[in-house]
Amino acid sequence: MGLFDKWKPTKKEKKIDPIDLSAIGFDMHSHLLPGIDDGAPTLEESIQLILHLQEMGYRKFLTTPHIFWDMYKNTPEIISEKLALVRSELKARQIDVEIDAAAEYYCDEHFESLIEQEKLLTFGKSKKLVLFEISFADENINLGRAIFNMRLAGYQPILAHPERYEYWHGNFEKYQSMIDKDVLLQVNINSLTGQYGPNCQRISERLIDKGMVSFIGTDCHHMGHVQLTHQARQMPVLKRLIECGSLRHDELF
Ligand SMILES: [Fe+2]
Repeated sequence: MGLFDKWKPTKKEKKIDPIDLSAIGFDMHSHLLPGIDDGAPTLEESIQLILHLQEMGYRKFLTTPHIFWDMYKNTPEIISEKLALVRSELKARQIDVEIDAAAEYYCDEHFESLIEQEKLLTFGKSKKLVLFEISFADENINLGRAIFNMRLAGYQPILAHPERYEYWHGNFEKYQSMIDKDVLLQVNINSLTGQYGPNCQRISERLIDKGMVSFIGTDCHHMGHVQLTHQARQMPVLKRLIECGSLRHDELF
């Protein structure tokens, strides 16, 4: 059976007037802290990104630096130090937004050991939400164990950008199996534009139209992402997502 035989791909839809993102209000996935991952390289860039996102309607940010032990050995101390720097600059410039930080954990051995020690950075009203990602290249054979142990420790896992794992594109059951394991799904707003390819766009649309998306985030690293988010604001599927009631952003603040 072909990749998309089980459902009709969405027709190219007419763009709509840009949606005011205050309808979402809270961006819960981004790389806005300066110089600690592949996101904003400088404090000035952090502030500029925040200003642009604010202009599109966001008022609150939960920024999520990578913790990926082979590449970004970020710790809670490093993250809170950079967060304080950004907060004080926002205050000095009288920019009226709220920003907090957690992390986007890559599912590796370090992550699994933090789960065991119950030392993950969490967020949300419940203080139990955890954002994590897996490899873009290959299936992670330890994923089931990591999810099981997160649930056992009382965490609420949120899988970042499930639509971007190409090796799942031909197997939509994978997404339902995540939900069945109590994993919430976070789609990237920029995936709606087709920038990451038509399959990624179609999977995002299918997840949205089936009510399977709990969170939407910018995953903003740089100005290119800001421009894509602006394009995404004109996609009818974003309007459907906001109106369908599946989003759980009210659990964030
Ligand atoms: Fe990210």
